[in-house]
Amino acid sequence: MTSRRQFLAAGAAGAVLTSRVRAANSEFNYSEIEERIARRDFRDLVKADLPTPALILDEALFQKNLHTMAEHNKATGLKLRAHVKIHKCPEISKQQLALGAYGVCCATTAECELMIGSGIKNVLHTCQPAGRAQIARTVALVRREPTFTGVLDDPITVGALEEALSAAHARMNVIVDVYAGLERQGCQPGESALQLAQKVDQSKHMKLVGIMGYSGGASHTHGWEARRQRSTSDVAAMLETVELCRKSGLPVGIVTGGSTGTYNIDTENHLTELQAGSYIFMDTLYRRIGGKSDEHVYSDFDPALTVMTTVISQTRPNQCAVDYGNKATLRTTDEVKGRPGVKIDSGGAEYGMLSWNDGGPEIKLGDRVEIYPSNLDTSTNVYDRYYVARGESIVDVWPIMGRSGAAQR
Ligand SMILES: Cc1ncc(COP(=O)(O)O)c(C=O)c1O
Repeated sequence: MTSRRQFLAAGAAGAVLTSRVRAANSEFNYSEIEERIARRDFRDLVKADLPTPALILDEALFQKNLHTMAEHNKATGLKLRAHVKIHKCPEISKQQLALGAYGVCCATTAECELMIGSGIKNVLHTCQPAGRAQIARTVALVRREPTFTGVLDDPITVGALEEALSAAHARMNVIVDVYAGLERQGCQPGESALQLAQKVDQSKHMKLVGIMGYSGGASHTHGWEARRQRSTSDVAAMLETVELCRKSGLPVGIVTGGSTGTYNIDTENHLTELQAGSYIFMDTLYRRIGGKSDEHVYSDFDPALTVMTTVISQTRPNQCAVDYGNKATLRTTDEVKGRPGVKIDSGGAEYGMLSWNDGGPEIKLGDRVEIYPSNLDTSTNVYDRYYVARGESIVDVWPIMGRSGAAQR
């Protein structure tokens, strides 16, 4: 029987794709692993011990991504309010803040509650609260954390929120959300945005602090130059609106927007704050858009997150089934780590199919295979936790506290 030391050495020396170590070699059973995680005792825990499918975060690549963005922000003066929707994990936000990020952005009221409940300040909700229930929760957040800031794109929301804030004797920081190429949100730029900003500014219980224009349509445009042109054109009217508001004497200190795809374009576009999120992990769809220095691969940030799976059947040549299917958000645009030629197809709700040409990789029953997901938001939403890996060793476990379910709403 393989000793624990030999087992660890084999894992560290092994290829990234397959550990070649069966679960039978592991000294921990499932409930022991859960007990150790609860005690935060990760000694001798290795990837091969974990139940699959599991989200594995490569600590070194993740840290590299955090530092790359932090250095960019320092060099350009662009403040980072990193988007939470990608990871839904307060631990990750705290690491971004420790490296100099100004705050965080959230997509839902529940994410704002999670972050503020974790003691995080300068939370920006990038979607307006609509309806009585969300407005009541927004007011509760303002009362709890005065740095909390929300966006608005409609005079109806200004009226409803003002009334609720007034009843609670609270005052809220507000950013006017202006259309920047994405039809799901943002008031019309120009005169109507100016009127909305004036309405906010005149409201007794709101403080106008800036303008948002999220050019989400530009973020995944292929080719850096094409992306630059698309983003510049998508935010042009929003930036003219910023000038219009400032000329009218409105206090527009913050101009916020942008994404991982446009982080080194947004500086030119005169944003003061960047909302990038995906850069911390990267996914296959982002990797394909190409960067400023590499037109084929967007390599400014490294792919730090994988779904680790187990080969559960291999009865035919050149193909196998893994325990990663539609429920675990398998997509045909995912990629197998270390094996670019391997094709991924769905095998149903619980299973995925990997196939390859003659001469392809040797993947065998029981092997571990790591797969890069295509879309981080949806992937991280269905897992409980990130297993943080240093080589083959698991060195930490971070719960994904804001994932799907009641807490998401
Ligand atoms: C409003 C808003 N800002 C910023 C982002 C972050 O974008 P990315 O993950 O592409 O960096 C998103 C993502 O969808 C978003 O919805």
